[in-house]
Amino acid sequence: KSAEKGGYAHFMIKEIHEQPAALRDTMSPHVDPENYTIRQQEMPLTREQVEDIAGITILACGTAYHAGMVGKWLFEAMARIPVEVDIASEFRYRDPIIRPGTLCIIISQSGETADTIAAMREAKRQGARILAITNVVGSTIAREADQVIYTWAGPEIAVASTKAYVSQVMVLTILAADIAHKRGRMSDEELRDYVKELLTIPDKAAKVLEMNSEIQRFAHKHFDKRSVFYLGRGLDYALALEASLKLKEISYIHSEAYAAGELKHGTIALIEPGTLVVSLVTQSKVIEKTISNIIEVKVRGAETLAVAFEGDTKAREEVKYLFTVPKTSDLFAPMLAIIPMQMLAYYMALEKGCDIDKPRNLAKSVTVE
Ligand code: G6P
Repeated sequence: KSAEKGGYAHFMIKEIHEQPAALRDTMSPHVDPENYTIRQQEMPLTREQVEDIAGITILACGTAYHAGMVGKWLFEAMARIPVEVDIASEFRYRDPIIRPGTLCIIISQSGETADTIAAMREAKRQGARILAITNVVGSTIAREADQVIYTWAGPEIAVASTKAYVSQVMVLTILAADIAHKRGRMSDEELRDYVKELLTIPDKAAKVLEMNSEIQRFAHKHFDKRSVFYLGRGLDYALALEASLKLKEISYIHSEAYAAGELKHGTIALIEPGTLVVSLVTQSKVIEKTISNIIEVKVRGAETLAVAFEGDTKAREEVKYLFTVPKTSDLFAPMLAIIPMQMLAYYMALEKGCDIDKPRNLAKSVTVE
């Protein structure tokens, strides 16, 4: 058994460490590292098909849904296409409306989640073109979708998804650029710069893994927290949702993710001396806004941790603890900034003695409704 884990104590930490490779393997088929372009034979949509997209609906569950939240942000900001992202179980029971010209993106690591399959079939019945992003070749979703882009994360064993998530985000990051470029929203030169920077992400992810002992020390100090709040805006909010899910699913510590601007509409009532508040502050356009929220919780006695890019000076001044990740484009932040959050969840759970790879009541793939 321990041989399967390649010397790691758990599959989860092994899979966290496999993320640079998962990112590279998922990216490589789609990008040309010499010309910094997207390889067209590997992309699902022609220019005409892209021009015909009236809207995008993303359907998924759990971590895959959180990847979808990142996708929404990227497609809207870069390609200017309206995007809905929906929890598959909500979509299927809501009598949903699919308008003509909808591209439906189904995200599922296993390709076998019952609600996601049902949502896909409903969208298909209503005439949407189905593009699946999945990690399992030959899975139900891969077989039934009109087109598939695979994530090449390799088998993911731990119930808490890590390398599948970053791989899903990688696919969405490439797809958003391809669609934006085909719709004339991104010039050839902009695309080249984008791809050039994207190519650095796997190595930067490997750098993030070097924070292991720093995060372990932090977890050792804070694992007895009863409640943790995660704040972020824009892409950082999408990231906060996933960071919060990681913590609660394996450490059983209550946690909530809040869009930072919503803080004063509820969560702030729960902040008391010693509450841990984790802020994601990678998005330069909104850093100052989120910092003002950090100050609000700090004056109420919260312990503050932020995740920011190296070189950030603004967040550093306001928080007690700071985790930094290598600088990249704001658009690529989720693929790097989630890694310390996964490690934090892992080490908190380890300190608590939890069954990390098989958390209570959870299944890797939910094939029943
Ligand atoms: C389960 C797993 C999650 C996963 C979700 C969706 O709840 O525990 O880690 O994100 O299912 O799974 P899928 O295979 O469709 O991505």
